Amino acid sequence: MKKIVVLALGCVGLLLAACTSKGNVSESESVRRVVNIDNGWLFTLADYETMPYAPSGIADTEALASVGAADGTWRKLNVPHDWAIEGDFSPTNPSGTGGGALPGGIGWYRKHFTLADLGLSDKADGQLLVRFDGVYMNSTVWLNGHRLGNRPYGYISFEYDMTPYVNKEGDNVLAVRVDNSDQPNSRWYSGCGIFRSVYVTAVNPVHIVPWDTYVLPHAPLADAYRYGEADSLVLTVSAPSPSLQARVIVYNKEKKAVFTTETPITGTTTGVRFRLPGAVRWSVDNPYLYTAQISLVSEAKVIDDYAFRFGIRDFEFNPEQGFRLNGESVRLNGVCLHHDLGCLGSAVNRRALQRQLEVMRGMGVNAVRCSHNPPSVELLELCDEMGFLVMDEAFDMWYRRKTQRDYARFFTEWHERDLGDLVRRDRNHPCVVMWSIGNEVLEQWDDARADNLSLEEANMILNAGHDYSEPLDTGFTFNQLLTRHLCNIVRHLDPSRPITAGCNAADPRNNLFCEGGVDIIGFNYHERNFPLVPQWFPGRPFIISESVSALQTRGYYRMPSDSIFVQPSRWDRPYFDPSFKCSAYDNSHAPWSSTHELNLRYYNDLPYIAGQFIWSGFDYIGEPTPYGWPARSSYFGVVDLAGFPKDVYYLYKSEWTDETVLHVFPHWNWKEGEEVDVWAYFNHADEAELFVNGHSQGVRTKGRDFHTQWRVAYEPGEIRVVTRKDGRVVKTETIRTAGDPAAIRLTPDRKRLAADGRDLSFVTVEVVDKQGNLCPLADDLVHFDINGPAFVAGVDNGLQTSLESFKAPQRQAFNGKCLVVVQSDGKAGNVTLTATADGLNAAKQTLRFK
Ligand code: GAL
Repeated sequence: MKKIVVLALGCVGLLLAACTSKGNVSESESVRRVVNIDNGWLFTLADYETMPYAPSGIADTEALASVGAADGTWRKLNVPHDWAIEGDFSPTNPSGTGGGALPGGIGWYRKHFTLADLGLSDKADGQLLVRFDGVYMNSTVWLNGHRLGNRPYGYISFEYDMTPYVNKEGDNVLAVRVDNSDQPNSRWYSGCGIFRSVYVTAVNPVHIVPWDTYVLPHAPLADAYRYGEADSLVLTVSAPSPSLQARVIVYNKEKKAVFTTETPITGTTTGVRFRLPGAVRWSVDNPYLYTAQISLVSEAKVIDDYAFRFGIRDFEFNPEQGFRLNGESVRLNGVCLHHDLGCLGSAVNRRALQRQLEVMRGMGVNAVRCSHNPPSVELLELCDEMGFLVMDEAFDMWYRRKTQRDYARFFTEWHERDLGDLVRRDRNHPCVVMWSIGNEVLEQWDDARADNLSLEEANMILNAGHDYSEPLDTGFTFNQLLTRHLCNIVRHLDPSRPITAGCNAADPRNNLFCEGGVDIIGFNYHERNFPLVPQWFPGRPFIISESVSALQTRGYYRMPSDSIFVQPSRWDRPYFDPSFKCSAYDNSHAPWSSTHELNLRYYNDLPYIAGQFIWSGFDYIGEPTPYGWPARSSYFGVVDLAGFPKDVYYLYKSEWTDETVLHVFPHWNWKEGEEVDVWAYFNHADEAELFVNGHSQGVRTKGRDFHTQWRVAYEPGEIRVVTRKDGRVVKTETIRTAGDPAAIRLTPDRKRLAADGRDLSFVTVEVVDKQGNLCPLADDLVHFDINGPAFVAGVDNGLQTSLESFKAPQRQAFNGKCLVVVQSDGKAGNVTLTATADGLNAAKQTLRFK
C-alpha cells in the first residue's frame, strides 16, 4: 500500500510547527498529530443486498464492513467525493428535478491503512480519532468490523474514537456506508457520499478538546445586541489530571508571539484571560487573524498541543443604524449560497470555494449566508481569510418536513446534538457574526401540520396565508417553546453572537419572533413589510435574511424589458414556456419575490436594515423554478452555474463597489429592423448616451431606477454607450455585431497552480468570430484534450436545461460560452489544454503545475 503523506491540518498546523517556542519544558514537534486521509479510498455504488461479498457467518448488514469483505474490484478514488454528480440526469431519479434529477442510492467506501502508512507508528499507544467533515447522508462507520456510529445529518461534522479497535501493527479497514436512497430528502441538490475531508487525529488520552476550546469576550456588554471583542479563552481537556498546566501563546499574523501565559488546569474546563494591547482588528477590509497555540504540560512534558486562529473584532446589530463592525457602519451586502460547486458537485474543493468568493467580491459582496445547512470548514476558513461576514445556518426544517424523507424524521432525536456541534465547531471563526436556527421552518405557524403532508401540500403551506390558532397571551405555544429551546442551545454554547432565522412569516405573530426567540428579526422577501419593522418590533435589529429570487438565464432577453414577467403568475399555478429560459433583463421573478431593483430601492431607503442576503449568489443544481424537467438547476443566481456573471451582476458592482462601472447589454446580433431594448448599468456619472452606428439615440439619466434604457431598431454594426459626469466622459463601452463563429478562445483564471492533486484552473471557453468578437448565440460542441499531469474535473455552460454530463471531456457552448475545470493530478509539470470544435480554429493553453 502506498505511503500516505502526513499533512498538517491546514495553515493552523503549519503555523503551529513554525510557532513552537523554546521554554523550560521538554519540547517535541507537535505532540498531537492530525493526518488527512482523503487519498486512497475504495468505493462501490451498491449495498450488501446486491453484493454477496461477506465472509460467511457475518450478518448481512455488516457484511461490507467486515475486515475480509472482498473489495479488490472496487473503484479507487480520493475523497471529497460526490457520486451523484458523475451520474446521468433523469426525470425518474428519486431526488426529482428539485433535487437536481441526479441519482441517489447507497454507496460504500473502504479505506485500508496501517499506522505506519499514516506516519503514526509512534502513536499506537495513544488515542486515535477519526473525523468526517461531512457525509451526505445517513452514514454509518466501522473500523475493522466494529461499528463506531451512525450520523444521519449529511452536513454535520462528526468524530469517532477508533482506539479500542485499532490494529497497532497490521492492516486496518475503515468502512463507511452512505445511505442517500431514501428520497426526496432535499429541496436542492445535496450530492452523495463522503463529500468533505476526513482526518485521523492521534492524541494522548488526556488532551485538548478542540471544539470546546475557544475565545470569547469574558463579560457580555451591557447594551443589547452589542458583542464585544474576545479577551478570554475557554480551554477544555478530555479528562481531569493532576498537575496539569496549560501554556498559551498568541501569535500575530506576522508569527510574532504577542501574549504568553501559563496556567494550572483543574477539572476539565479552565478560563484564561489574554491581553493584546493595540490588537489589529479583524474586518472586511483587513481580515487580520491571530493564532492561539496551546500546549498542555504534565510533569514538565508537553502532552498535547493545539492551535487555532481567531480574530479580534466587536460588532453591533443596532435597531436604528444597522450593523456596525469595530464601531463603523458596514452593511452586510450578502448572498445566499448553497454548498454545491456547480459541475464539481458537492465534493468540497478549497479553490472552487475561493473562486466563488472572488467572483462574489467582484460585485461588492461582503457577506454570505450558508443556506440552509452547516457549511464546510473550508468555506469558513476562507471567509476568515478574505473578510466575509457569515450567517451560519443549521437547518432547513425542524420536525415538520418539507420533502417526503428529509431531516425532519431525525430532528427530534438529533437536533440538540447537530445544532450544538455546529456551534461548537464554528465558534472560533471571526467571520461568523450570527447563527441562524432555521430557514422558513413550518413551525413559524401553528397550523402547518406538514408532518402529515405531501410535498405539494407542504409547499402550499410554505407559500400560503396562515391562521394563527393560538394567541400569544395564553402563554407560549409549542413552537415558541421549541424556538426558545433551540435559541438556548446556541446561547449556552456561544453568548457572543446573536441568533436569527430566515422567516417568510414576515410579521409579529411568527412563533420564532416570540420573547426569548431569535435576537435579530430576519425576513425572507416581503419587502413591503420592511417599513413596518420598527413599529412591529420596536428596539429589535432587522436583517433581510433572504431577498429577490429573480429568475434569469445568462444572455437571454425577453422584451419589452419594462414588462415584468412573474413566473408562474401565482405560486400554485403551473408554468410553461417552450424556451425553458428566463429573461436576463431584471424583469422576471417568482410570485413571492421581486426584481433586484425593487428590492434595492427598499434596501437603500431604510437605514435600519443591517444587511441582506440575495437569493442567490450563484445558480445551484436543483430547484429549477419556474420550470420542471428538463430544467434541473436554478435560475435565481446573479452568476450562472458555470460562474459566468449575468448582467445584473454589474448592477451590484455599480452600487456596492468603488470601481467605475459601465455595463451595456444585450448583445448586438438581432433580426434586421427588430426593436431592441438596450440597458446600461453605470456609476460615477450623471448620464449615459447611446450611439447606434454613430447615431445618437439620446442622453438618459437613471432617476430612481438603477439602469437606463433605450428602445431602438436593430441594424447590424455597433452600439456604443458613453457615460459622462459634468460633461466629461467617464467610460465608454462598445458592442459589435458578431460574424460567423470562427475560433475558440481560452481564458484561464489561473495559469500557475499547485501540483497538489486538488488545485484547479477554471478556463473560460468562448466561441468568437474572425475579429475576436464573442458570438453571443453560438452553441458549438467543444472537445477538450489534456496533455500533462492534470485532468478535466468538470465542464459546464450555465444552461439550466443541459443534460450533458458534468464530467465529460466536451461541452456545448451556450450563448457563446462554456467552462472547463482542469485539476492537478498531483504531479508537477506543464499541461497543455487543447479545445477543438468542428469548423472552428482550435485553441491551446499551457498551465504550469508546481
Ligand atoms: C425561499 C427559500 C429558498 C429558495 C427560494 C427560492 O423561500 O428559503 O431555499 O427555495 O425560496 O425562491
